[in-house]
Amino acid sequence: MKKLMVIVIGVVFCISFTFSQSIRNSKHDLSSTSTTIGAKSTNVDELCVFCHTPHSNQSTTMLWNRTASSATYTVYTSPSMEAAGGQPGSASKNCLSCHDGTVAFNSLINSPGGVTPTMTSATMSGVNSLGTDLSNDHPIGFVYSTHQGTDPHLRAASASGNKVTVSNGGVTLPLVGTTTANATMECTSCHDPHDGTKGQFKRVANSASQMCFTCHNK
Ligand code: HEC
Ligand code: HEC
Ligand code: HEC
Ligand code: HEC
Repeated sequence: MKKLMVIVIGVVFCISFTFSQSIRNSKHDLSSTSTTIGAKSTNVDELCVFCHTPHSNQSTTMLWNRTASSATYTVYTSPSMEAAGGQPGSASKNCLSCHDGTVAFNSLINSPGGVTPTMTSATMSGVNSLGTDLSNDHPIGFVYSTHQGTDPHLRAASASGNKVTVSNGGVTLPLVGTTTANATMECTSCHDPHDGTKGQFKRVANSASQMCFTCHNK
């Protein structure tokens, strides 16, 4: 019995540990108390506020609290694509409001308590800045089924309720939309901005390229 209790307590501890590890102290924890070595604030100890606000006057999704980038992006093109790619959708534009390097980290719609955060660096730079030229990045911003429909090497998406996903081998990745006819591929298909536990906010560790094989049937 004692042994069982130890195991149960151990499991509970592991689960709570895993949850508390997700965004807190990850590179997406820009609060002043974060242990991240990436960019962060020196005066604001809230962390959700750098991306969300409970009352947004933005037309974008996810109660987004950031100034949108005004960039027009150069998108991925290739003669072997089934259809032309598009401009990033709003889910990707949310990421790009930091990751194209044109919008200051502290450019918020609703600053906490009206205090503009001061930051250890002003904008994204280095490898984490994709810039406004996305032609060397995996294509995003297109309806998945338009491309999948004509390509035998892509797995079909499926819809359940309001969610559209692609699955293979126990891995499920989300598309952004409510039906297979409108769901698009975005940054969030591969990344979960709240989960830093698998490295680089990946939805699945890409060991044996299992992320790639979820959609690509090669
Ligand atoms: C670095 C930016 C960033 C930070 C910081 C952040 N989020 Fe998010 N959040 C996002 C993005 C991007 C999405 C959309 C994700 C998607 O489509 O899967 C999202 C989606 C959500 C959603 C709706 C979808 C879901 O996953 O349930 C909730 C709820 C949420 N965030 C809560 C929070 C809370 C609470 C915090 C603070 C503890 C937080 N977020 C911090 C970027 C962020
Ligand atoms: C509030 C600004 C902000 C937003 C919005 C944001 N990020 Fe980040 N992201 C950061 C910062 C800051 C870093 C760390 C940069 C550094 O190391 O200096 C980072 C790092 C990353 C990294 C590299 C992590 C690592 O471990 O090396 C990935 C991948 C990433 N972000 C993906 C995303 C995706 C995908 C989205 C949208 C779903 C997103 N981010 C939205 C601020 C943001
Ligand atoms: C098809 C899946 C996929 C999509 C879509 C995707 N990423 Fe990534 N991303 C990855 C993987 C996998 C890595 C890790 C690469 C590695 O290990 O070298 C990564 C790495 C990164 C990094 C770390 C720097 C680097 O170049 O390694 C950043 C920042 C990033 N992604 C942001 C984004 C943003 C922003 C978007 C949308 C504009 C996006 N990603 C779309 C799969 C994707
Ligand atoms: C969520 C689904 C999804 C995931 C995950 C994904 N891809 Fe893709 N990928 C696509 C779709 C859809 C296209 C567009 C295919 C087309 O139109 O021919 C594409 C296009 C590409 C292309 C360009 C093909 C061309 O004809 O120019 C390459 C290369 C590629 N993906 C590699 C990868 C790699 C490597 C990974 C893993 C890091 C990955 N993909 C993960 C869905 C995905």
